[in-house]
Amino acid sequence: MTYTYHNPTIIEFGEGKIESITNYIPKDSKVLFVYGGGSIKKNGVYEQVVKVLKDYTFFEFSGVEPNPTVETMNKAVEIVREKNIDFILAVGGGSVIDGCKYLAAASLYEGDGWDFLDGTSQPKAAVTLGAILTLPATGSESNSGTVVSKKATNEKRYFFSPFIFPKFAVLDPSVMATLDDRQLANGVVDAFVHTCEQYITYPNNSPIHDGYSETILKGLVKLMQTWDKRKEYSWHEDLMLLANQALNGFIGAGVPQDWATHMIGHELTAFYGIDHGRSLAIVQPQLFKVMFEDKKEKLLQMGKNILNIDDANKVIDKIEELYNSVGISTNLNDYINGDKEVISKITTALKNHNMTALGEKGNLTLDKVEQILTLAL
Ligand code: NZQ
Ligand code: ZN
Repeated sequence: MTYTYHNPTIIEFGEGKIESITNYIPKDSKVLFVYGGGSIKKNGVYEQVVKVLKDYTFFEFSGVEPNPTVETMNKAVEIVREKNIDFILAVGGGSVIDGCKYLAAASLYEGDGWDFLDGTSQPKAAVTLGAILTLPATGSESNSGTVVSKKATNEKRYFFSPFIFPKFAVLDPSVMATLDDRQLANGVVDAFVHTCEQYITYPNNSPIHDGYSETILKGLVKLMQTWDKRKEYSWHEDLMLLANQALNGFIGAGVPQDWATHMIGHELTAFYGIDHGRSLAIVQPQLFKVMFEDKKEKLLQMGKNILNIDDANKVIDKIEELYNSVGISTNLNDYINGDKEVISKITTALKNHNMTALGEKGNLTLDKVEQILTLAL
């Protein structure tokens, strides 16, 4: 095993931690405070941030939508340039944080920021950013990835860059009290699938990574099994830490990784606006069936160590049952409004994005995507 692992994001975890951000934002900064559709005005987060920023020069940019778009974020690029912003504060879920990562890099780039998303250019710098997380799911608060969409072409793409790691991330579980069931379920499933993408591949000598992944998966299974406690602080606390650890880079360092569920899921969201977590719940169980020969050993390991099941096929059924138990339909028909073209749209988009050899072995080809989606219908 070989890997380089560096995660520079300072984590401030716990109730009341929002005020700690003044330790990390230089006093003479010009701050752009960025948020989404207004949920932060209903749970006291907006007031807390304004209070904490009172001695700073700051501007606001709101309206970052779920599945953030370049169309919206390019408006913020103008503000960063016009006002000479040198610190971006992202306050929200994965979408606001991802939007801000794009913003941070695009603001210092002469060309069109979409170049980073279509892979024609790599950031060479970014405005410093910090994050206050309000929806645990993506891990974006302390990783170097961002997923951004282009409305004009129904595309949803991603890029990684060491320059877009947030400098700090505040994880205060008390801000989760206003999350509805839909977002809580999305968060658990997203974190669960992130862990699986780095764990359900093939056996390799990685006992520490496997053990850590299994601890995260156990925690997430428990959250789904104690769904009736989802309004409790301790449930929120567990999800916030679990989702963060699922995608901060460690469990994937040096081990085989899959990510095909995500690549197919992103295309589904680009065409049908399906919530990210739900797009994964639709794809993943069927992907495990189609790729069963490659994944059966790890599925069995998961069954034995986490679910108390010693049959790999039954592990797949159990995963789907868990998703359904938190109110997520895994039937693609429930999301696409009768579109008969769904399979060709998704396979064509994957082809256009050069994603024709997915999975940990590069053997998940478009015919397999077709099989997966057919099973999901
Ligand atoms: O916009 P506001 O008003 O804030 O409302 C949001 C939004 O409508 C709401 N919300 C957030 N915190 C809340 C709250 N509502 C009440 N109380 C709170 N405390 O929740 C809605 C969804 O928010 P969003 O940020 O879109 O959700 P999520 O965190 O699931 O992020 C999804 C995005 O992240 C990308 C996804 O593709 C998707 O675009 N991902 C990013 C990754 C990364 N950077 O590493 C990896 C992931 O796999 C994923 O692809
Ligand atoms: Zn995800």
